[in-house]
Amino acid sequence: MPQFNDTELTAAVIRSFEETPDPRVKFLMEELVKSLHDYVRKTDLTFDEWGYAIDFLTRVGQKCTPTRQEFILLSDVFGVSMLVDAVNHRERGGATETTVLGPFYVGEHKKMPHGADISANLPGERMFVQSRVTDLKGKPLAGVPVDVWHADDDGFYDSQKPSYETQGPSSRARFVTDADGRFSFRTILPCSYPIPTDGPVGEMILQTRRHPMRPAHVHFLVNAPGYEPLITHVFIEGDKYLDSDVVFGVKDELIAKIEKRSDPTMPDGKRADGPWHLMTYDFRVKPGEGAAPTPLGVKVTETV
Ligand code: BEZ
Ligand code: FE
Repeated sequence: MPQFNDTELTAAVIRSFEETPDPRVKFLMEELVKSLHDYVRKTDLTFDEWGYAIDFLTRVGQKCTPTRQEFILLSDVFGVSMLVDAVNHRERGGATETTVLGPFYVGEHKKMPHGADISANLPGERMFVQSRVTDLKGKPLAGVPVDVWHADDDGFYDSQKPSYETQGPSSRARFVTDADGRFSFRTILPCSYPIPTDGPVGEMILQTRRHPMRPAHVHFLVNAPGYEPLITHVFIEGDKYLDSDVVFGVKDELIAKIEKRSDPTMPDGKRADGPWHLMTYDFRVKPGEGAAPTPLGVKVTETV
């Protein structure tokens, strides 16, 4: 019977993966074991602490449902999602910066016509969003599906509300770019909001005295065939949480100045009922795989 001290044990576990046929899987397993064992050695982890961690991860799993992804949330608040994003997007080459997908992309976006109001029945300050999708040289890309989603004025996504099952999506839609690469829609000005704090991840955030807030933003997933899928947000300039996003997702290039307008019509010529805001933000995508899996494991393959 082999006997191991605390460092020999690491080598033994690594050897146990020797026969793994896929070299990448073998490498990932070995490095995972090394990092986990280092953590236990460095911290002199107690049985109570290890038991707490197992219970915590169990509760993270138990909190997951088809519309609630507590593991993504955990990855997000540990900065792992942004780190995976960073190591995979080192060279943007002029393409729009990326950020976290987040747990509220449910992959069910319904196509809507340009100019549609995706928050028609919701209270909030009205906003018109206009955008264009181009390649790195500025050539407009036509027929590109763009999924958009954001929180309502109370800081909730539609998928977080019980009414989602019966009333369907709101503040969430798919637009397809026109011949000039453009799309536009109406909605409400999003506000900053807390990530869900009613689960184990929220418990960890509150116990460690972090705040749970994300600065106001709109999510965009630009999925042009033949180009890298672009998963990003546009943040609202001036938000008080831009410097301390709980998921570390803010990049300067993604902060947009929102113009306050009082013109009687919006850019598509239709009437505005009172003052409104204008968000203008264009996206540049780089050539690459057009149907890559997202961090959710959802294949973003659907085209229109
Ligand atoms: C979001 O922006 O929807 C989000 C991202 C990460 C964690 C929680 C929410
Ligand atoms: Fe969000």
